Amino acid sequence: MPKNNPIPQPTILISENWDDYELLDSGAGAKLERFGNYTFVRPEPQAMWQPTFSEKVWNGAHAHFQGSDDEDTGSKWEFRKKVPEQWQMHYKDISFWAEATPFRHMGIFPEHGCQWDWMSQQIKNAARPIRVLNLFAYTGLSTLALAQAGAQVTHVDASKKIISWARDNQVLSKLEERPIRWIIDDALKFTQREARRGSKYDALVIDPPKFGRGPKGEIWKLHESLPILLNTCKDILSDKPLFVVLTTYAVKASALSLHYLLEELTSRYDGEIIVGEMALREKSAGRLLSTAAFGRWQARYVSK
Ligand SMILES: C[S@@+](CC[C@H](N)C(=O)[O-])C[C@H]1O[C@@H](n2cnc3c(N)ncnc32)[C@H](O)[C@@H]1O
Repeated sequence: MPKNNPIPQPTILISENWDDYELLDSGAGAKLERFGNYTFVRPEPQAMWQPTFSEKVWNGAHAHFQGSDDEDTGSKWEFRKKVPEQWQMHYKDISFWAEATPFRHMGIFPEHGCQWDWMSQQIKNAARPIRVLNLFAYTGLSTLALAQAGAQVTHVDASKKIISWARDNQVLSKLEERPIRWIIDDALKFTQREARRGSKYDALVIDPPKFGRGPKGEIWKLHESLPILLNTCKDILSDKPLFVVLTTYAVKASALSLHYLLEELTSRYDGEIIVGEMALREKSAGRLLSTAAFGRWQARYVSK
């Protein structure tokens, strides 16, 4: 690669449009967050600094997740105050169920709010029918934001339980009439099948875990599987794609790696790539807590 190839400049995206979620404080390897009316302490290895709020404030949280950041079986919630099994939350016009799951996740990755806003705007600006493939699509918040903006969405996740949660969120958001296909499948296998069938998509949203399993036990290992997946994605992009959003969590894949992966995927189209980190801003001291790396490709069309 030529030495004068431009150096990608990382961008920090912050999701600041929440009412129902707040990162209250962070530090000492943990974060204190509010989901609706309930507060939680969860492990956060990135928070290597000192917390701002007092121990008393932290101890007053409704529940504390005991254990490491890894999803090992020995970890569990310690509830200090009553928390319902599920409760409703909202992001703009999207409504959804939150839950303190045994895997420490709550059914929402709030740092994605900025991506939902950006993608919705792209769909609206396109002013043409847009088909989106959402892989590893979890509880469906990006799917619902896309559908609300007018896209036709294919939502793929390996877990039947998670898809059922996503469908409950669709009902809660009153988006039952929107064109969403709910697919329980392995993300790679489904994409390969779509490529063989000649199915095309105008936009891709890919939020893979570090390690996962398809419904038939198919193994997903980010470093091995992502290049194969993205290579297959070349065959399903339409002639006039709109965007690709790729995010990774807790893995040794920097924003720069995502840049070069997206460059390969979109080399035959005219567009631009931005990469960087997604972060949440603390209420306590305003520090930015990085939670994920992202890469985003956006088409550059000459407007007629
Ligand atoms: C949204 S991703 C990653 C979430 C978060 N970014 C993280 O790393 O913890 C998690 C989702 O991927 C799904 N998943 C895991 N392996 C999969 C596979 N092979 N095919 C399709 N979905 C998969 C899981 O069921 C889950 O809903």
